[in-house]
Amino acid sequence: MSKKIISLVLLVSLQFASVAFAQIKPNSYAVSSAHELATEAGLSIMAQGGNAYDAAVAVSAALAVVEPASSGIGGGGFWLLQSHDDSISVMIDGREVAPGAAYRDMYLDEEGNVDRDLAVNGGLAAGIPGAPAGWVYIAENYGTLPLSVLLAPAIDLAANGFPADEKYVTLLAMREEVMNRWPETAAIFMPEGSVPEVGDLIVQTDLANTLRAIVENGRDGFYKGEVAELLVEGTRAVGGIWTMEDLANYTVKERTPITTTYKGYELITAPPPSSGGIAIAQMLNLIEAYDIDEMTSVERTHLLSEAMRRAYRDRALYLGDTDFVDVPIDLLLSKDYAAGMRTNLRLDRATPSSMLADDPDIWPEGNNTTHFSLIDAEGNMVSATLTVNLAYGAAYVPPGTGVLLNNEMDDFSAKPGAPNAFGLVGFEANEIEPYKRMLSSMSPTIVRSPERVAVIGTPGGSRIITMVFLGLLDFIDGHGPDSWVSLPRFHHQYLPDQISIEPDSMSAEDVAALEALGHKVQEGRRAWGNMHGVMWDMEANQMEAAHDPRWSSGGAEVVPVKR
Ligand code: GLY
Repeated sequence: MSKKIISLVLLVSLQFASVAFAQIKPNSYAVSSAHELATEAGLSIMAQGGNAYDAAVAVSAALAVVEPASSGIGGGGFWLLQSHDDSISVMIDGREVAPGAAYRDMYLDEEGNVDRDLAVNGGLAAGIPGAPAGWVYIAENYGTLPLSVLLAPAIDLAANGFPADEKYVTLLAMREEVMNRWPETAAIFMPEGSVPEVGDLIVQTDLANTLRAIVENGRDGFYKGEVAELLVEGTRAVGGIWTMEDLANYTVKERTPITTTYKGYELITAPPPSSGGIAIAQMLNLIEAYDIDEMTSVERTHLLSEAMRRAYRDRALYLGDTDFVDVPIDLLLSKDYAAGMRTNLRLDRATPSSMLADDPDIWPEGNNTTHFSLIDAEGNMVSATLTVNLAYGAAYVPPGTGVLLNNEMDDFSAKPGAPNAFGLVGFEANEIEPYKRMLSSMSPTIVRSPERVAVIGTPGGSRIITMVFLGLLDFIDGHGPDSWVSLPRFHHQYLPDQISIEPDSMSAEDVAALEALGHKVQEGRRAWGNMHGVMWDMEANQMEAAHDPRWSSGGAEVVPVKR
């Protein structure tokens, strides 16, 4: 048989397989999230007949209560919704926006330097939250159960308390000093006056009441009326600039996901204002000209790092909120553009980032935000990444609301070329403007072939994108979620010009070999990320879920269904 005929036969059988698998239903449903109580909330909703989108609302709201360091009602997020029959494929963009009185240089001091304290702590650091609007929007437009059911687990956990876990305690210790500036906030998260012990009960009465207001009045329960008044008053009392109009005017956006193909797999991922989907697609486009399966670990790490470097360069230069700036998405995603990116890539030598632009010298730690993945018994999927930005966001709760504010304004480029808390640089495309969404790295993603599908994502600041990239390559290599979530991680973000690696994750020989190619290899002090993945092997009709072993509090569970 000629090569052409073999390809045609393969294509036709793939299409038959695809149609056949589209008709099967899972024999189970699954959730993997950063907290077992949030996972339980999602499973309980599906046990009551709710779909994946209902469960996503319940998990998001529960995480807002039990994992306040990472996401919450005062933050925002992206929910990628994908139905099994493809009739739904959308990203719900509940990203925060800059308040109406925000302006480009609002964080610069008299010398023109970024005032880091203003940018990350207290009222001025907070964007207008999008999370509660996102929950209500998903429930009303895609869910089947009322908010009273979907928010019940979160209300219960807020009103009656949950035990502090290792992550709660570890990250709070990092933010304790700042939070103590505001005693009413500190009293919520440190009821005994200091960072609690693992197992101590955390009760959030005001948060329970705010959640009840949302059950009663939908999004108006948060964005208008008494809660909104307290939010505006409390934020302005500590230097913020929010107004009632800012809250009332907040809108959720439906975005078309970024899609691309790689080695017979289809990628469905986050569009702007996330930078993640474009960057991941660019990296896949760049590496597909090479046979990475035949490479040594050093050759592979070098190539992937060079792909990361180039994608993050474009992130810095071109990406921002597409409602405000023109982002050349089609160009960046084109295979021709990737071919152009390969022209200055050498397999025997690192390309210094300084050949591409200036090189600020900063490398921060970063481990916050949250991600969950789930699949329901109909095969519908949600990949959601949610955030308050840094651990415990702005570390401030407007009194009487229970709403821990985000510090997402730091995801804007406060000054062209000046690094933010993640060492990320940006320019005009991501400068501050009223009501603009700040660029994000959050990359909720779904990858599928006719036989297998992965729902994948992670927190981790600027490293989110490269973690998802490495995780999905591992899935494409044939592995399951246990493997993706535990992989040792490395990262390159163009500036600073170095490959960052997790502690003890690379052999001394590999480090030396990468250095010989011209790379600087920087070993981190802590592991990073908190990946949560679910995989449905449609061929075997088998579901698997896994949570990242780096934190003990995660919950991943598969529940069989009887048909
Ligand atoms: N706040 C982290 C991000 O959105 O990328």
